Amino acid sequence: MKIQSCLYLIVAVIFSKPVFADEKEVIGAKTYKAVCAVCHASGVANAPKLGDKNAWKPLIEEGQVILTAHGYVGVRAMPPKGGKPDLSVEEFAEAVNYMVNNSGGQWSTPNKGMLEEIHEEITRRKNAK
Ligand code: HEC
Repeated sequence: MKIQSCLYLIVAVIFSKPVFADEKEVIGAKTYKAVCAVCHASGVANAPKLGDKNAWKPLIEEGQVILTAHGYVGVRAMPPKGGKPDLSVEEFAEAVNYMVNNSGGQWSTPNKGMLEEIHEEITRRKNAK
């Protein structure tokens, strides 16, 4: 093997894992900017603003499962799925994390078990509406 292609291989192996973790954050940031920022950047209709730690504190205390599920179903002036009908629960969760992590909290991508709980809470919440 030429030394150059050997180097490429080493670099690819070194960076393959962190890139995957970063990808989730990128999805969160992208979804936030494309879908949520229109309301959550300036606080339209009292939407909790990105970076407003006081506004986010009680929401963060509700916990990741509840907050993600209730936001996804819609809360008062907050439209279901942020108003984007084809937004997946996973994408929505990343966007919530992006806002939380920029507003005093520290949440990470839900694992399989948590994702199931979020889906269950979504069903419960929808049936209660
Ligand atoms: C059309 C405006 C609008 C858009 C777009 C929007 N939101 Fe909201 N959001 C609101 C408003 C208004 C509230 C406050 C609702 C209330 O408590 O009355 C809110 C509240 C929330 C809450 C707190 C829910 C709770 O249980 O109190 C979360 C989480 C949230 N939004 C996430 C998001 C995410 C993630 C996106 C993008 C995918 C998004 N929102 C897009 C207006 C919006």
